Amino acid sequence: MSKTLTTTAGAPVADNQNSLTAGPRGPVLMQDWQLLEKLAHQNRERIPERVVHAKGWGAYGTLTVTHDLTRYTRAKIFAAVGKKTEMIARFSTVAGEQGAADAERDVRGFALKLYTEEGNWDLVGNNTPVFFVRDPLKFPDFIHTQKRHPRTNMRSPTAMWDFWSLSPESLHQVTILFSDRGLPPGPRHMNGYGSHTYSFWNEAGERHWVKFHFKTRQGHKFLTNAEAETVVGRSRETYQEDLFGSIEKGDFPQWDVFVQLMPELDADRTPYNPFDLTKVWPHGDYPLHPLGVMELNRNPDNYFAEIEQAAFSPSNAVPGIGFSPDKMLQARVFSYADAHRHRLGTHYEALPVNRPRCPVHHYHKDGAMRFFQNDSGNPDAYYEPNSMGGPVQDPSVAEPPLRITGDADRWNHREGNDDYTQPGNLFRLMTPEQQGRLMDNLAAAMGPVPTAIQVRQVRHFHLADPAYGAGVAQRLGLSSADLAAAE
Ligand code: HEM
Repeated sequence: MSKTLTTTAGAPVADNQNSLTAGPRGPVLMQDWQLLEKLAHQNRERIPERVVHAKGWGAYGTLTVTHDLTRYTRAKIFAAVGKKTEMIARFSTVAGEQGAADAERDVRGFALKLYTEEGNWDLVGNNTPVFFVRDPLKFPDFIHTQKRHPRTNMRSPTAMWDFWSLSPESLHQVTILFSDRGLPPGPRHMNGYGSHTYSFWNEAGERHWVKFHFKTRQGHKFLTNAEAETVVGRSRETYQEDLFGSIEKGDFPQWDVFVQLMPELDADRTPYNPFDLTKVWPHGDYPLHPLGVMELNRNPDNYFAEIEQAAFSPSNAVPGIGFSPDKMLQARVFSYADAHRHRLGTHYEALPVNRPRCPVHHYHKDGAMRFFQNDSGNPDAYYEPNSMGGPVQDPSVAEPPLRITGDADRWNHREGNDDYTQPGNLFRLMTPEQQGRLMDNLAAAMGPVPTAIQVRQVRHFHLADPAYGAGVAQRLGLSSADLAAAE
């Protein structure tokens, strides 16, 4: 038997088909509360979309530990081989709005929330191990170039290539974005990376720098630009179809989880800055250690409640897992929770999808969505210190101190950095077919851009590898006079 329809206050509704009117022709009476409530709620059905990564797809699953890394981290999530932790994942494109087509060339977000017994651990990564900028002061500028032009309200290739060509640190990520990795056919067929350097610390207070890798068991796949045009012409929701559809039919995607580990003091010795988000750590120096398996196996029942309202933040760390000196990471530690308070409301962490699966005791007080109890057992214990038995700190979970030196200044992040060797190595690692597609994709994207900007960018490709520069220049039809003019 169907349940009785009610108002939000629980009163039964007698008629959900006809408004309350004076006579069959109307007008409507002001006292038709059911009508007013329906219209008022409809007006409030939208919240601000994420300022970046607005279009996304997500599911629940588990992370299972397969290898013992307890000598590196005291995090309880990794305490024993075989241990399973519940989680939720959200994948996304970066630039498109909430209604954007899925199969667009873009970096993909790879955001995870692990509901550990010591609080939520969020790993908010991408499907790429590096990023476009290395100083957070440049992040809003970069994102402006990816979003719509203020006058035309269209995306601007000129703005994108102007910024990238003036920011050589972006070359590594640009090379990945325009390679096959920049257009996977769905979330199941891509890797994930924590990207930043994070840290592990153990019971003895020893710290290792760590990078997280999630390798797809479904195999890497990609779409060419031409294939993507056909796909988008057929459906704008192909990622949702892929992820939701495969989980619905019991075909659960899995990723092998690995970490690279660097002893704390090695960071002073590597020839590159291990906290630079535009660089990878060579696997020869710091090999991948297997850690576990991630599986996605349950679709959410309500997309808005569970995926749109999911709030992932790099600030959500747990004892045994910490940050690093990466400047970008530190800015992100601030930015996400701030975005969530704006996008979702003050107590967004109490929403079911974000709520930790362990006891929560804090002294934050009122504000929007104060619908929960802190459960400290005593309503008089609402400040700290108190003698009412309220929650108290636990020094046993203190992170070991981090040695920091250096003069406070606005250090030029472009000085003394090699922006070309790693992108060049990546280019040289590709097969001739992969290189060809990379350069075709670049030339297609740079076609509408003024020649001076094309030439400036081609110089970066050339410095990474002369064949890379020459291949893009030739595809763009740049003459040697054009290139010489830029010398
Ligand atoms: C989303 C800021 C760099 C991955 C977001 C959001 C903000 C933001 C404000 C929206 C959050 C929300 O409303 O829920 C920044 C800043 C950055 C930065 C200030 C640099 C200083 C990065 C990097 C990565 C990344 C380097 C990956 C390694 C993501 C992902 C999401 C996201 C995956 C979507 C999370 C979700 O699915 O809800 N970012 N971001 N961001 N960012 Fe960043």
